[in-house]
Amino acid sequence: MAEPLKVGLIGTGSISRMHLPGYQLAPDEVRLTAVCDIREAAAREFAAEAGVEAVFSDAEQLLEQSDVDAVDICTIHDQHAPLAIAAARAGKHVLLEKPMAVSLDECREILEATEEAGVTFMVAQQLRHVPSYVALRRRIQAGELGRIWSARCDTFLSAALEDGRQPIAPRSGWWGFDGKRGGGGVITMLSVHHLDLLRYLVGEVARVDARSWTGHPSFTNDAEDRAAATLEFENGAVGQLTASFSSRAPWSFQLLLLGEQGSAWTPPPADGSPLMAHRAPAVIASAAQEDERGFRGAQSFEPLETESLGLPTDDPYINEIQHFARCCEDGGEPISSGRDNIETMKIVFGIYESARSGAPVELAGL
Ligand SMILES: NC(=O)c1ccc[n+]([C@@H]2O[C@H](COP(=O)([O-])OP(=O)(O)OC[C@H]3O[C@@H](n4cnc5c(N)ncnc54)[C@H](O)[C@@H]3O)[C@@H](O)[C@H]2O)c1
Repeated sequence: MAEPLKVGLIGTGSISRMHLPGYQLAPDEVRLTAVCDIREAAAREFAAEAGVEAVFSDAEQLLEQSDVDAVDICTIHDQHAPLAIAAARAGKHVLLEKPMAVSLDECREILEATEEAGVTFMVAQQLRHVPSYVALRRRIQAGELGRIWSARCDTFLSAALEDGRQPIAPRSGWWGFDGKRGGGGVITMLSVHHLDLLRYLVGEVARVDARSWTGHPSFTNDAEDRAAATLEFENGAVGQLTASFSSRAPWSFQLLLLGEQGSAWTPPPADGSPLMAHRAPAVIASAAQEDERGFRGAQSFEPLETESLGLPTDDPYINEIQHFARCCEDGGEPISSGRDNIETMKIVFGIYESARSGAPVELAGL
């Protein structure tokens, strides 16, 4: 049996807890062997939970001294590029949390470093590993929705409101509200998931026209707390995206795709739970279902069948780590490789450029 992929996790904050089960499911295939956080106590606490002995407070030391084949970078955004580049130069495969980096130049530097080193590089876009989205993509590719002409995507999280009842604590002074450390605001933090999902389901975006607002006092260095964008896809579909960190609304994510033969919807989660928003199942209504089910087939949304997909689990974070490990093992290209993900990042930075200039931006020029 091949040796398991040994991974060093860098950044033991909130998302690292969601990654941990991915290293515990099949330790003969992929396991954590080192952890690092600049907050040493946090690294130690996480290591104890994960049953890992090698603990570091400096990523350079982890790269030099620990026995790892790969790193999983779960740090704040302005640390993504320096850490990914250092890891690639040390010959380690790289799994990097979204967004890839805080500028397109940095994204390109990571790409260059990982390609030069010949290591596997994947950006953690876990929505591509949600079973119902995998199923939906297959059914879109099989033509069930027909030509998609409209794609709507909305995300609201009132994280900036100081009401103390949010499932995600309001965080005045949080790095995610600081444009310098976060590389932006709600678009880099939340919408990057949905822009990537729209590419996965609908196709490439040619141009964007966007507006953004920095009105909430907790937001600094031009981080936007709200944004709205129109996306023109290469295939003629038109997308509309809204996002807010400061609206008086429960955590909510919804997606609506309209095609000539059917539609797909991810309804907002009834309980406003952030976890559900990241695992929210899509449902479908289509002419094909109408043939199969009679009148109700196209008159009611139905869950997508996911059993036959052969995914390791229902948990997108576990599935993404398994996918990464498999690509490291067999040299395959990850589904959200650096080359793929830079196209998502062009939409992100296209939105920012358009919001700054007030004019549409052609992504080919970025
Ligand atoms: N995929 C998702 O659903 C999802 C959800 C939340 C966050 N994220 C992403 O995960 C990443 C981390 O977010 P978070 O919410 O866990 O943040 P967090 O603030 O909870 O944790 C970040 C951790 O990184 C550590 N850190 C910062 N710089 C470091 C460095 N140079 N070396 C080692 N450790 C360092 C911090 O001390 C902190 O413990 C971000 O990229 C974020 O966008 C993804």
